[in-house]
Amino acid sequence: MKKIAVIRGDGIGPEIVNGAIKVLDVISKKYNTPFVYTHLLMGGVAIDETGLPLPKETIDICKRSDAVLLGSVGGPKWDKLPGDKRPEAGLLGIRKALEVFANLRPAILFPQLKEASALKPEVLKGNIDIMVIRELTGGIYFGEKSRIDLPSGGQKAWDTMAYSTYEIERIARVGFETARKRTKKLTLVDKANVLETSRLWREIVLKMSADYPDVTLEVQLVDSCAMQLIKNPGQFDTILTENMFGDILSDEASMLTGSLGMLPSASLGNGTLGIYEPIHGSAPDIAGKDIANPIATIMSVAMMLRYSFNMESAAKDIEDAVSKVLDTKYRTVDIMGAGMKCVGTIEMSKLIANEIK
Ligand code: IPM
Ligand code: MG
Repeated sequence: MKKIAVIRGDGIGPEIVNGAIKVLDVISKKYNTPFVYTHLLMGGVAIDETGLPLPKETIDICKRSDAVLLGSVGGPKWDKLPGDKRPEAGLLGIRKALEVFANLRPAILFPQLKEASALKPEVLKGNIDIMVIRELTGGIYFGEKSRIDLPSGGQKAWDTMAYSTYEIERIARVGFETARKRTKKLTLVDKANVLETSRLWREIVLKMSADYPDVTLEVQLVDSCAMQLIKNPGQFDTILTENMFGDILSDEASMLTGSLGMLPSASLGNGTLGIYEPIHGSAPDIAGKDIANPIATIMSVAMMLRYSFNMESAAKDIEDAVSKVLDTKYRTVDIMGAGMKCVGTIEMSKLIANEIK
């Protein structure tokens, strides 16, 4: 039996999570493993119902669960709230409360989606299979921030980016270990020509590379990496980077795969408890229309099975099922192409679930 905390959230969150649960239910039967879901509030819905973006009950139950399945939070309705009362504060809060410092964001281009990719085939060349490892509980997202009125008029605001040796070492270890299991190439992405935090990252990671002689370490500045991802994405295997750079680069990397709606994520800490969510947001403009792509969330569930439940073959079942459905030319509108059959969120989820035998 596995306890899964479910946070559907706002916008398209409920639709894509419902789709992912359909797939989990099939896995549950096939592998004779009961999944017990507890639905919890976080984000805008939590603000509306409790006044808080992250009620204490949500934190407590997540901590006692085996994994957290998350949709997305936020929307224009809550955009005017102060920073610490916004839906996003709930998301950052749960990441911090569960100490899931390592965010794995695989950007894989399914061969069937080559035409949906934002890049030309001659730039894509072979395969795109990049693992972005984003530090998730430190840096500028969590540093001291404030805003003051200036006597001379106007205001001044600041956000600080801070990292300790401990925080860098633990995520770097994930980076090296992950690269070791892949093609053994690790790219550290930073801004060491300007930022002191980046210089500390670089020093530590270079030093640690002595413990991983089998892994080839490269360093790239983040501006250059953003450019290289479009110019020659095939050069990347595992990317290791701090919180905000990882946020930006993973959205960029998703465009190689056809859609933001294709990228799953796993947020892991020291134990097996993890948060699994698509990298995209709540897309309020398309919410409730049954057109959102559920694949990122469904692939996140595959990551849950792999990393939290140690059910590798079930994870593979899901990934294979997605691939088979793409073979049969079914597409949600974001990855639609000529000669393809357009389906909605519910239908796409059903098709994937039905492929799991
Ligand atoms: C993501 C999202 C979040 C982030 C937002 C919604 C706070 O963009 O998971 O990438 O910036 O981490
Ligand atoms: Mg993001």
